[in-house]
Amino acid sequence: KQRVLTGITTTGTPHLGNYVGAIRPAIAASRDTSTESFFFLADYHALIKCQDPDHVAQSSREIAATWLALGLDIDQAVFYRQSDIREIPELTWILTCNTAKGLMNRAHAYKAAVQDNESAGEDPDFGITMGLFNYPILMAADILMFNAHKVPVGRDQTQHLEMARDIAQRFNHNYKEMFTLPEAVVDDSVAVLQGLDGRKMSKSYGNTIPLFLPEKQLKKHINKIKTNLLEPGEPKDPDDSTVFQVWSAFASEEETARMRSEFENGIAWGEAKKQLFELVNGELAAAREEYNRLLDDPDYIESVLQRGAEKARAHSAPLLAQVREAVGIRSMS
Ligand code: TYM
Repeated sequence: KQRVLTGITTTGTPHLGNYVGAIRPAIAASRDTSTESFFFLADYHALIKCQDPDHVAQSSREIAATWLALGLDIDQAVFYRQSDIREIPELTWILTCNTAKGLMNRAHAYKAAVQDNESAGEDPDFGITMGLFNYPILMAADILMFNAHKVPVGRDQTQHLEMARDIAQRFNHNYKEMFTLPEAVVDDSVAVLQGLDGRKMSKSYGNTIPLFLPEKQLKKHINKIKTNLLEPGEPKDPDDSTVFQVWSAFASEEETARMRSEFENGIAWGEAKKQLFELVNGELAAAREEYNRLLDDPDYIESVLQRGAEKARAHSAPLLAQVREAVGIRSMS
C-alpha cells in the first residue's frame, strides 16, 4: 500500500493556508482505500519556535480538533502526536550522525535567520538554536520512520522533502536499503496561499485567516484582504489578486472561470469579497460547529491521540529495532 504522511507544527491556530496546502488534500488522499495515511501534530517542531508551554498545548488541541472536525476517519488513518512516538527522537539522532552539516547549512529557514541577523548587524548565530539548525533532520525522521511514499505539503516545505530523500539515500548507502525515498505532493493551484497582505499566508507574518473564525470575524478578515484602488466597473487582473487566488482555492473550475470573467468585467471589490466570504463560509460552517464542540471535550481528543500513538508505535518500534541493528547498536527486541 502507498503511504501518505503529513504533519502540522503546533504553534498556533490553523489557517486557510494549512487547510488548502495540507489538511484538505491529506484528508482526500486518506479516503482512498488503497493508501495508508499517517497524520500527526508536530509538537517537537513547535518547541523550535515557541517556548510557551500553554501555547503549544492549546495549539495541539486546536489542530487535533481541526483534523477531526474536517472529517478525518480515525479508523482508517493513523492520527497521532509526534512526541508520543519515542522512536522519533532516537531515529533523529541516528540520522543526525549520517547527515552532512553542509546539507543543513543550505536549509532555507536557517539561512533566512542568519541573513536577518546579518542585515541587523548582529552576530550571524544570534538567537539560532540547534533545534532550528537540525529541524530538517527531525522532519526526515518523522517521514522515514513510517516509510512514507507521498507527503502532501505546501510549496514552502519541498526543500525539506528533498533533504529527507538525501538523508534516506545516504543511510541506505552507508548501511542497507531500509528507507523509502519520500516524494512531496504539492497541489500547484494552491501551492502558496496568500495572506491578507498578499505575502504567503503564515503565522510568522501575522497575515493569516484562521480556519474556524466565527462567521462575523471571518467576514471581517476577508474584508481586510489587500486590494488595489480600482473602482467598480474597471477591469481587474485576477492573477494579481489575493481575493481571486483564495477564491480559486475554494471554488470549482467552473466557478473559478466565472469569477475570472467577473474580474475582467470590473466586479467591485466589495462584491467579490462578499462572494468569497459566502464560498469559504459555506465550505467551513458545518466543520466549525463540530470544531467548537470538540474543543470542549479535551478528554476525547486525548483518547483519540492515545489510540493513534498505539497504532503508530506498532510501526515505529519494529522499524527502529531494525535501524538499531543495522547501525550495530543493541537491538531493542
Ligand atoms: P507548518 O506547520 O508550517 O504548515 C503545515 C502545512 O501547511 C502548509 N502551509 C501552506 N500551504 C499553502 N499555503 C500557505 N500559505 C501555507 N502555509 C502553510 C505547509 O506547507 C505544511 O504542509 N515542518 C512542517 C511540519 C512537519 C511536517 C513533517 C510536514 C513536521 N514534520 C513531516 C510533513 C512531513 C511545518 O512546519 O509545517
